[in-house]
Amino acid sequence: MGFAVLVSGRGTNLQALIDAVKEGKIKEEISLVISDNPKAYALRRCEENQIPYEVIPREKFKTREEFEGELVKALKGVKLVVLAGFMRILGKTFLKEFYGKAINIHPSLLPSFKGLRAQRRALSYGVKYSGCSVHFVDESVDGGPIIIQAVVPLLPNDDEETLEKRILQYEHRILPQSVKWFLEGRVKLFGRKVLVEGAKYGTYPTNPKLEDF
Ligand code: GRF
Repeated sequence: MGFAVLVSGRGTNLQALIDAVKEGKIKEEISLVISDNPKAYALRRCEENQIPYEVIPREKFKTREEFEGELVKALKGVKLVVLAGFMRILGKTFLKEFYGKAINIHPSLLPSFKGLRAQRRALSYGVKYSGCSVHFVDESVDGGPIIIQAVVPLLPNDDEETLEKRILQYEHRILPQSVKWFLEGRVKLFGRKVLVEGAKYGTYPTNPKLEDF
């Protein structure tokens, strides 16, 4: 059994994972993709790459517990669950089985701009830097322990689309990186703090260039 990916939409992060597996950077297979949305473009990517998938729509179930029970059943035995653009909040039933074994990618420098349209909110707030974060899933929205973040500058002429694109390039790097680390058994969780054994950390990669200093 390898790892599983949960999606709801276009699946560019799923694609980055598919590519990382193909290139041998991630040494495990994607054993299953689950979408809650039957129309997700991510499912086409599964077909094109012969990856098994299941559609489990939330509307089919009366309660969130039942929906999560079905997810847990389908995911039995996987080493890691990756939420890559999965638009549902997961609770106790899922986390009882998967806390510490489920990660999510979010397009902001957490804890800023949790939730939907993070890039648009970063723009209208006027921050100079945003980015993306991969974190463990807990019961909060985008609030679990952080594994890795990439810092991305906002430029004066950015709109939501240009910022989203710039951040996405980094999502496609840090998500496969975290999956690789996790599957190599190098990600250690100490309460809220995550350490990655043997990771090469850069020093101050984001200091801005200043004029006249
Ligand atoms: C990404 O921006 C991800 O960070 C967020 O949802 C978006 C999914 O994009 N959680 P894609 O489906 O992977 O292209």
